Amino acid sequence: MTSPKPNTSNPKPVSPSPSTSIQGIGYATSKALAVQKAHVHMVCRNKVRGEAALATLRAEVAELSGGVSDGANVSLHICDISSMAAVKALSDAYVLKGDPLHALINNAGKP
Ligand SMILES: NC(=O)c1ccc[n+]([C@@H]2O[C@H](COP(=O)([O-])OP(=O)(O)OC[C@H]3O[C@@H](n4cnc5c(N)ncnc54)[C@H](OP(=O)(O)O)[C@@H]3O)[C@@H](O)[C@H]2O)c1
Repeated sequence: MTSPKPNTSNPKPVSPSPSTSIQGIGYATSKALAVQKAHVHMVCRNKVRGEAALATLRAEVAELSGGVSDGANVSLHICDISSMAAVKALSDAYVLKGDPLHALINNAGKP
């Protein structure tokens, strides 16, 4: 698979949120969007694995940016999306913070 190229000329003030992001389509989507300077909100249900994925993603985005990175703008949220209470708590907290949300990517599931 071809790696996405960083867009350094036109930073996009968007906040996409892949619904679960530590592997598979969610991770690839998060990385592609972060390289394009989007503010990405990663969601996963396992804190340890989520933090490891976040660290890997930041390192990979820095590498794709030629080692000169102002830091991938990526946030991690812990949420088991099979729990409606957990989803509501996450969405309520997001709305309270007042950040925009331009895209929601629902990729959680079993292949
Ligand atoms: N890969 C493809 O080429 C492809 C093509 C078309 C459609 N799809 C579909 O797209 C979906 C994702 O595919 P994938 O290849 O990315 O699968 P994947 O690598 O197994 O990733 C799925 C992710 O969903 C997470 N997840 C599952 N249930 C969750 C929950 N209740 N709360 C939070 N996170 C949860 C998993 O987290 P854990 O690690 O914690 O389990 C995992 O990180 C599947 O439904 C698949 O059928 C995939």
